[in-house]
Amino acid sequence: MSEYESLIAAARQAREHAHAKFSNFKVGAALRASSGKTYGGCNVENATYGLTVCAERVAIFKAISEGERLFNAIAVVTDTTSLTPPCGACRQLIWEFCGDVPVIMSNLLGKSEVLQMSALFPKPFDSSHL
Ligand code: THU
Repeated sequence: MSEYESLIAAARQAREHAHAKFSNFKVGAALRASSGKTYGGCNVENATYGLTVCAERVAIFKAISEGERLFNAIAVVTDTTSLTPPCGACRQLIWEFCGDVPVIMSNLLGKSEVLQMSALFPKPFDSSHL
């Protein structure tokens, strides 16, 4: 798990910026590109609720918009005892943009668990089906 400590720290830091005034559920994510750079993201809610963007997708879109295309890990941090896995929409995009990367789920008490995307998202739909 020590190889992921800096990624978890980046996700914690991103969580500090969460705009979660409707759910009060703050999420931070951090995505590590093969360039070596890390991209943080937080959930961003708004008054329609439905236009909320999850922390994971914010991190992915930030990285893609900066020209990154290859990724090797993503971390998700919440303040919960039961660790938070990415939602279904985020699993789809993590799969399409990052492939079978490890997903590191962590909380503020330092509890962590790693699961591969292939375990979290079996039988995905992707461009190979088009
Ligand atoms: N949320 C995330 O940011 N990532 C997840 O993986 C799960 C859910 C956000 C969306 C919303 O702002 C809040 O958590 C409650 O669902």
